[in-house]
Amino acid sequence: MLSQQAAHIVGDGLKANPELTLGLPTGSTPLGMYAELVRLRQAEGLDFSRARTFNLDEYIGLPADHPKSYHAYMRRHFFDHVNLAAENIDIPNGAPGIDVDAESERYERAIHAAGGIDLLIVGIGANGHIAFNEPGSSFASRTRVVNLAPDTIANARRLFESEAEAPRTAITVGIGTILDAHRILVLASGASKAGVVRRVLRGLVSESLPATALQLHADVTAILDQPAALDTPQSL
Ligand code: PGA
Repeated sequence: MLSQQAAHIVGDGLKANPELTLGLPTGSTPLGMYAELVRLRQAEGLDFSRARTFNLDEYIGLPADHPKSYHAYMRRHFFDHVNLAAENIDIPNGAPGIDVDAESERYERAIHAAGGIDLLIVGIGANGHIAFNEPGSSFASRTRVVNLAPDTIANARRLFESEAEAPRTAITVGIGTILDAHRILVLASGASKAGVVRRVLRGLVSESLPATALQLHADVTAILDQPAALDTPQSL
């Protein structure tokens, strides 16, 4: 349901504005949404040919063709299966040796040149991060290189062969970049997110829980599955 609802919001946005600019997440939560968007492409011809996409983050130190990179994730789960134009896809480049400051500036300029992000989709980390804006991130932050929090590294660690291979830094859009999006769709799934979802949607707005910044945005839709919604009262 969460995935279908999210995909339908994206699909409706695309039908209303074929040149829609999307902000796209990775991780486990959006996998079903991508699968449903691919199905809508195949079954109904949902047209992405004029849409633009900006991914929210990428690990530092992985070449784009590394199987655990977010570049590879996006190709595997979405880009290879829909008719997005290659020149309309952008992901922060975290390849080894990259000038991360120049890349961060390039990314902010590219989003600006595209007219901003119309619909940004984001998950919530167990520690309250959004994209890779870890606790303590400024709400004014822009795209930059960040140190990953220990629990984020531990989570990523499960996907990598060894401790040494697991990334410790990333390039991420900032919270300011996220808040500039015209509309935000927040996805959370599973009982392990119930506590953080309640604090994010209902708790005190604080940089110690970065996702609470979403309370400052005028157009946020949260889609929660039942286990993730368990601790959050219905009325908004
Ligand atoms: P997940 O990650 O979708 O893998 O739970 C969410 C996040 O850390 O932003």
